Amino acid sequence: MIKAKKASPPARPAPSTTRSIPTASSAAASSRAPPLSSEPHIDALALGVRTGLPDDLLHLRDAFPRERWTEALPETAAFWLQMHGGFRAQQAHMADAAARWRSGALDPRGLHAALIPTLQAFLQHLDGHHRIESGHYFPQFRLIEPRIQTGLDLLDRDHDAIHADLDALYHSAVAFHQAVAAPSPDAPDHANRLADVLDRAAPGLIRHLDDEEDIVIPLMILKGGSAA
Ligand SMILES: [Fe+2]
Ligand SMILES: [Fe+2]
Repeated sequence: MIKAKKASPPARPAPSTTRSIPTASSAAASSRAPPLSSEPHIDALALGVRTGLPDDLLHLRDAFPRERWTEALPETAAFWLQMHGGFRAQQAHMADAAARWRSGALDPRGLHAALIPTLQAFLQHLDGHHRIESGHYFPQFRLIEPRIQTGLDLLDRDHDAIHADLDALYHSAVAFHQAVAAPSPDAPDHANRLADVLDRAAPGLIRHLDDEEDIVIPLMILKGGSAA
């Protein structure tokens, strides 16, 4: 855990896990799908560009809209939504800590205490979540419902984009931690940089969570046990 203590280096930080995210994920994704640039339709839907999914990727959600997701969800679908809820809550918590830092309500050590434990858990859990999705569930979904291939390609690429953000978060968090632990007079600068990286990463993550749910939750509901 990253702790703001002089003798405590970032032992088991999410960082060591996150450092490998882009390479592993990129390699896995590149073996599954062609580059975005070869598919103009998907390029326009890149994370950070799109504001939602096009109609042709929402046929399953149209068949089973969100207002009906309270009906007897398959266990895996319910767990999926629970995981996403946890990521949204962690993101909101970190955004709140960054806002309190910017408002002057927290000093660097206060920001460290409020942010780093959550950030560490966020990095580790999101890494594991994406590995399971891209490595286990998405390949199964491709076999079960061929019509969602494009949607799953999109989600796989989202994972790569998000992992790049996680890597940036890791490096910013380590620099901030080291500055606080030193302590160093440039800790406020590192805090500002970390808060900026958090701001940049948030919209893509939230977009991905929403869009992924619109694609995979209806599939799990409609296909029942075969998709769960
Ligand atoms: Fe995902
Ligand atoms: Fe997910």
